[in-house]
Parts: sequence; structure tokens; C-alpha cells
Amino acid sequence: MCDYCGCRLSGPTSELAAEHERLLELGDTLDDALRDDTDATAIFAEFVRLLQMHAAKEEIGLFVHAKASTPLGDQIDALCREHDDLHRWLAGGLSGPRVPDALRLLITHIEDEEYDLFPHIIHALDPEDWDEIELAHRAVEAVWDETDDTDDTDDTELDQRIPQEHH
Ligand SMILES: [Fe+2]
Ligand SMILES: [Fe+2]
Repeated sequence: MCDYCGCRLSGPTSELAAEHERLLELGDTLDDALRDDTDATAIFAEFVRLLQMHAAKEEIGLFVHAKASTPLGDQIDALCREHDDLHRWLAGGLSGPRVPDALRLLITHIEDEEYDLFPHIIHALDPEDWDEIELAHRAVEAVWDETDDTDDTDDTELDQRIPQEHH
């Protein structure tokens, strides 16, 4: 993992990195379940929920500020397109035909973020940017917590409640 720039040590990037670790663990478990044909419905639900929350944090927090402060816009747009692919490929449940593709894509997506993106961002943003990213993370979590007991969390609801600055 990226241990050189300090992005895993504190603040919003360490929060994202911890979520990456959990997503990779859950992805591994799902991979095993698909291979062994065991029931992993609950793990899949946890995985999809965490991935959606995590991607929302990135898209309204870090990515917005990184786009404004670095020349990494094209790379960030590509990562957002991968988020869309992941959400689409996972939308049909664990038995969906592209779930294995999604699990593979997630691994390279996280590597790209941790090795090619975070190290370039960590010194490019101001303290105010990091404060706003932190606030964005808390706002996303508040929405996700509120919808904890329901199964109807979707992007529409998030769109209505958090202004999407841009993707
Ligand atoms: Fe991402
Ligand atoms: Fe990520």
C-alpha cells in the first residue's frame, strides 16, 4: 500500500484507505462464495452499501477538491466512470453476470486511487479543502445512517439531499 506520502496516516484519505481495506476483504469473501457456490447475500449487501457510500464520499469530497487544485481531472473522470460501472454491474445482485468483473475492477480501481491519485493530492490541497472533504464525508454518512433501516437507499435520494457540485 501507499506508505510513503502519509495518506494512510490521518484525515479523510486514511478514512478512505480503511474503507478500501474493508471493501477488499468483503470482495475476497464474495469471490470465495461465488467459487464455492455458498450463500453470501448478507455480505453482498454490506459490500454494496459500503461501496456506494465510499464512492459518494469520493465524488462529493476528495474528487471535487482534487479536480479544482490539480491537473488530474481526466484521471478522476475515469475513476468516476468506474464507480458507475461498479454500481451497474452490482445492481442485479450477487448472481449478476458481471459481478466477477466488478470484483476484479474494484481491485485495480483501489490500486489506482491509492498509488496514482492520493499521493498526488495529499500535498496539493489546503487545510480548508481537507476540512470541507471531512464535512462531505460526515454528510454522506448521515444520509447513509438515516437510511440504515430501509432498503430503498438509492442515488436519487442522495442527489436530492446533497448538492452534487460536479463529477
Ligand atoms: Fe473510487
Ligand atoms: Fe476509493
